[in-house]
Amino acid sequence: MGENSGTGFVAGLEDVVAAETRLSGVDGEVGELTIAGFPVEELAGRASYEEVVYLLWNDELPGAGRLEDFRGELAGRRGLSRATLDLLRAVAAEKVPVMDALRMAVGTVRTGADDEEALALVSCLPTIVAAYWRLFGGEEPVAPDPDLGHAANYLYMLTGERPSEEFVRGLDTYLCAVSDHGMNASTFAARVIVSTRSDFVSAVVGAIGALKGPLHGGAPGPALDVVFEIGESSRAEEYLREKLGRGERLMGFGHRIYRVRDPRADVLASAAERLYTTDGDKELYRLALDVERTALRLLAGHRPGRNLQTNVEFYTALLLHGLGLPTELFTPTFAVGRVAGWTGHCFEQRALDRLIRPRSEYVGDKDRRWVPPVER
Ligand code: COA
Repeated sequence: MGENSGTGFVAGLEDVVAAETRLSGVDGEVGELTIAGFPVEELAGRASYEEVVYLLWNDELPGAGRLEDFRGELAGRRGLSRATLDLLRAVAAEKVPVMDALRMAVGTVRTGADDEEALALVSCLPTIVAAYWRLFGGEEPVAPDPDLGHAANYLYMLTGERPSEEFVRGLDTYLCAVSDHGMNASTFAARVIVSTRSDFVSAVVGAIGALKGPLHGGAPGPALDVVFEIGESSRAEEYLREKLGRGERLMGFGHRIYRVRDPRADVLASAAERLYTTDGDKELYRLALDVERTALRLLAGHRPGRNLQTNVEFYTALLLHGLGLPTELFTPTFAVGRVAGWTGHCFEQRALDRLIRPRSEYVGDKDRRWVPPVER
């Protein structure tokens, strides 16, 4: 693929500014993520997910009364329609992967006014994931509990048990940390779709398709698999060296934008440390830290000067595993958090109302002549 072939074409569009946004800003050189004016570490770990959704949609944090109302507006929309549940039952019987089921089920959310779609999407993504996961495992879905907050209710619908405060805090931290992140691939996909004056549901379906790929949201599962496969710290170096030797990438490391450590990794690392050092699997936690240290050392030698660092996915994997989530739910849970940003960008793009339609450079042959198939 030609980079900058005289026409300004850059494969991957890096450094191309494709939107102005008040939602989040990423400074990859110094490792800063600002979410609607707040450094990520100021919000994640303190704010509830509902507060951050409100912030992204309104550019201000809600006061206590408004927050209560907003929580109610979201909680009242958690239930799934018959069409959605029927679809989930049908695809669970086929053992369809969770991200595919999520993409299909979100497509059944009713379209209408933008505000209504945005509320419905944020509210029902966790219900879809939890209901599908239970059906997939041969269990009946657990009905949402409107008295629980967004994060608590998600864990409740997955397990049927009310989660501890520590777990709710851990999940809220994660959901807030991943709520938005500049012009990442899934957000860009959502904005392109809304720019055609299409609806928010279509935008989120497209975004889920983009998030599914292993270079975007699909990395945390494989990142944790590596830790499990390594099994003990003494095997880390040999295992990772072999992987790099085969030309494979180490999942959970490297980033298109960050040239230093991803600030979300720090936020999630603190949350994981809190979780694992209270009542978690301390051995696994120590092993993961050893794997991280070894990977960073090897990557420094593998691509000197590139400064490949731990990204958000490594600690996502550790934190979500500590919260009892199976690896199959890591990427779907990323979607549960990122839908705040997707819908926020949909609102911004709707207000801008400008079709996103870049050009391409034709590099194929010209003036070919058609001849009948038998003469070719
Ligand atoms: N393991 C091994 N090598 C890696 C690597 C990793 N995790 N990340 C980048 N590299 C290598 C690339 O192969 C490339 O080598 P090359 O020049 O020989 O092709 C070099 O480092 C520079 O890559 P870079 O330009 O930084 O990658 P990118 O911007 O295209 O990719 C990612 C960014 C995230 C796609 C990439 O780092 C990656 O695949 N990471 C693993 C997947 C992951 O964790 N994704 C979640 C992202 S939040």
